[in-house]
Amino acid sequence: MAHRPYIVGNWKMNGSRTMLAEARAIDRAALRYPDVQIALAPPFPFVGLLREAVNAIGIGGQDCHTAAKGAHTGDVSAAMLADIGADFVILGHSERRRDHHESDSLIRAKADAALAAGLGIIVCVGETLHERDAGQAEAVVSAQVDGSLPLGDAALEAAQAYKLAVAYEPVWAIGTGRVAAVEDVVAMHAAVRERLTAAYGDAGAKVRILYGGSVNAENAAGLLAAQGVGGALVGGASLTADAFLPIVAAAGQGEG
Ligand code: 13P
Repeated sequence: MAHRPYIVGNWKMNGSRTMLAEARAIDRAALRYPDVQIALAPPFPFVGLLREAVNAIGIGGQDCHTAAKGAHTGDVSAAMLADIGADFVILGHSERRRDHHESDSLIRAKADAALAAGLGIIVCVGETLHERDAGQAEAVVSAQVDGSLPLGDAALEAAQAYKLAVAYEPVWAIGTGRVAAVEDVVAMHAAVRERLTAAYGDAGAKVRILYGGSVNAENAAGLLAAQGVGGALVGGASLTADAFLPIVAAAGQGEG
């Protein structure tokens, strides 16, 4: 199941034309790390600009609508993201589950739309602190995987082609500086893998499981070397090349 580690920067609602310089710097440095798959997901207004500014790294959106087009003011479709050159889309981030009340079934419908448009997907799952303290972390995350990942032939094909990824992001570790313990990450990734195998059979082994939540230059090597961790989804530390590139370098070392 070895495949290049996948290091993805999620800019969330941060970015500006000035920050194109950071993307360019990350792109130039990416040539030094051919064994790491690197991508950035900026806000919608910058997706096309970043696409044109970089060559070696992937560019993705942070959400898409379930429909390809139509009367949905303010929304953006997967087909539009594909049309401007995006490679993938992040779906079901906990901030969207929270801010926009996204359900597992909605996220699955978005995933189906993204695959139909030819995009890769990163589906996010993760428990709250309350759920972890109640001993429900594995059950909650397993149910999210069962409910939000796409099913059927298109999903199997995407899994085979390494276009399907899951990001395990414990909600309490996002933007808090409080990173999950490596043994908990290993246990959660194993639980996610089990559900992926149940859903996709052998192809489930080809779905990379990324860890997300306060990943930075200091903790990246330990997390990325952990059993079952196929990469990282990075928020705050993806906003500058100086903060992001050490994480990419740590992934390169993890290769071995
Ligand atoms: P931070 O790295 O800022 O904690 O964000 C993680 C995240 O939510 C990435 O999607």
